[in-house]
Amino acid sequence: SAEEQLEYVKSHISTYPDFPKKGIIFRDIFGALTDGKACRYLRDLLVQHIRSQHPDVELIVGLDSRGFLLNLLLATELGIGCAPIRKKGKLAGELVGVEYKLEYGSDIFEMQRSAIKPGQKVIIVDDLLATGGSLAAATQLVRKLGGVILESVVVIELQELQGRQKLDCNVHSLIQY
Ligand code: PRP
Ligand code: ADE
Repeated sequence: SAEEQLEYVKSHISTYPDFPKKGIIFRDIFGALTDGKACRYLRDLLVQHIRSQHPDVELIVGLDSRGFLLNLLLATELGIGCAPIRKKGKLAGELVGVEYKLEYGSDIFEMQRSAIKPGQKVIIVDDLLATGGSLAAATQLVRKLGGVILESVVVIELQELQGRQKLDCNVHSLIQY
């Protein structure tokens, strides 16, 4: 069942206190991805959610770098395309950028102007929602390019940081801490 799959994935996520800084409890998605069954369950749970809730989605946008584990995977399953949001200096061509803050730092995100067709229906994916700074910046970028955000989807949500409240789009998380 979906509940059993979810429990299986959750039981494979590793937790590292005080990484990368003192006071941060690091939730490691890679702990789950080393297990073949957890990979498959994770894929099936995310695809099942998107198929049932957003059958009209046209593009999956993934966040640098752990979001890239999910965007191509979901896009190929759904038969649609995907596009990256990258940290500054990595993408070629005409770009749009936005600065953002993290739970442990700050950076600039960029996206290629050609990545989204105006009016295209987009789902943004990432491994984890913490303070919401990354996803808030991602939603700004997607909208600057004319994308219509159906939802942001994450595997893990750190609820005590209230990142969801920083976002003016729907958020779906599989696992909450
Ligand atoms: C992590 C994580 C999310 C973001 C969440 O990425 O993968 O993208 O932080 O934090 P926030 O909600 O407080 O913005 P990180 O910037 O560490 O980069 P990485 O994926 O390259 O490790
Ligand atoms: N990104 C931001 N905060 C994080 C955390 N606590 N664990 C894993 N990734 C993160």
